[in-house]
Amino acid sequence: MMYECSRRAAMGFGARRALRFLLLLLLPVSGAAGAGLAALPLVVNTWAFRKATETAWYTLQSGGSELDAVERGCGQCETDQCDGSVGFGGSPDEHGETTLDAMIMDGNTIEVGAVADLRRIKNAIGVARKVIKHTKHTLLVGESASLFAESMGFPCEDLTTQNSLSIYLKWLNQNCQPNYWKNVIPDASKSCGPYKQAKQLNSEEWINSQKRINIHNHDTIGMIVIGGSGNVAVGTSTNGAVHKIQGRVGDSPIAGAGAYADSTTGGAAATGDGDIMMRFLPSYQAVEYMRTGTDPTTACQKVISRIQKYVPYFFGAVICANTTGSYGAACNKVPGFTQFHFMVYSPLLNQPSEQVVDCI
Ligand SMILES: *[C@@H]1O[C@H](CO)[C@@H](O)[C@H](O)[C@H]1NC(C)=O
Repeated sequence: MMYECSRRAAMGFGARRALRFLLLLLLPVSGAAGAGLAALPLVVNTWAFRKATETAWYTLQSGGSELDAVERGCGQCETDQCDGSVGFGGSPDEHGETTLDAMIMDGNTIEVGAVADLRRIKNAIGVARKVIKHTKHTLLVGESASLFAESMGFPCEDLTTQNSLSIYLKWLNQNCQPNYWKNVIPDASKSCGPYKQAKQLNSEEWINSQKRINIHNHDTIGMIVIGGSGNVAVGTSTNGAVHKIQGRVGDSPIAGAGAYADSTTGGAAATGDGDIMMRFLPSYQAVEYMRTGTDPTTACQKVISRIQKYVPYFFGAVICANTTGSYGAACNKVPGFTQFHFMVYSPLLNQPSEQVVDCI
């Protein structure tokens, strides 16, 4: 295994291209705010991603399932490149490449389909749906996930755009700042890699390194859809943290972290600094709070408080909804992030409604 890894790493771009072309020939590719008033059906999603909300809603209205609504709603954001942090052409990693993480979960069966570190495929949540539909697996990663996607008919395309390239070049020009390395030489806070391991940071240096994270680099779409009869589906899609180390996977494709659904209780989804948030399984925890009778807003707040105790500076927010259609959200207050915007659509509203909560 090690041998194959280093062999791959040593392969030049041309060799990789040639290999990919060969694989393409071998594989069949067929083208392809506060407590809300309760009503069902309900669509709730993170951030002011209005078109995603609308698409999910119209999918339900035209007879689609909750899973269809989540897939198309999040897929809309992938097409629209919401905030540059969902879909292609955003958040280039340390080598300039955009990679995608996505997940979809069925609250009736507790089935999950997810992809992580997906390369050269635009519709990540579409691929995640195929993982549920056509495999007995839950999570596929990296280039192998791309091969799976190609076999399911998704087009293989370059995810780099002028925009992602210029973000990458600007970052190179500023000595690769900011980045996600620590305890390495050369000093990652001053220069680019390649890095080697160095001594431990002291605690003050560690706290400072935590403060550097730019909040606008983590705007995942997370969506909860609750159908007219209380069926819950959730999903996420993101291109991850900008300038991430290659191979980094965030919370979004991890069940219970990025999102969680249980049709006996409700659903939740998270956005923010996934490297921190995934350690607390915030979405699972929120659903568990709701299961024991906690209202959605309080459930979201309790999850944020739990993380705060360990990591006061984390950037993050959670949305929660229960099967009677109550919903809420909460976020952690840090400098530059004191309010969180999210979208809601229900029969009580005649259009997608942007809601705001004050962070705690
Ligand atoms: C959902 O939350 C609302 C608000 O707290 C509550 O009245 C309702 O009973 C909850 N529904 C379920 C199924 O727990």
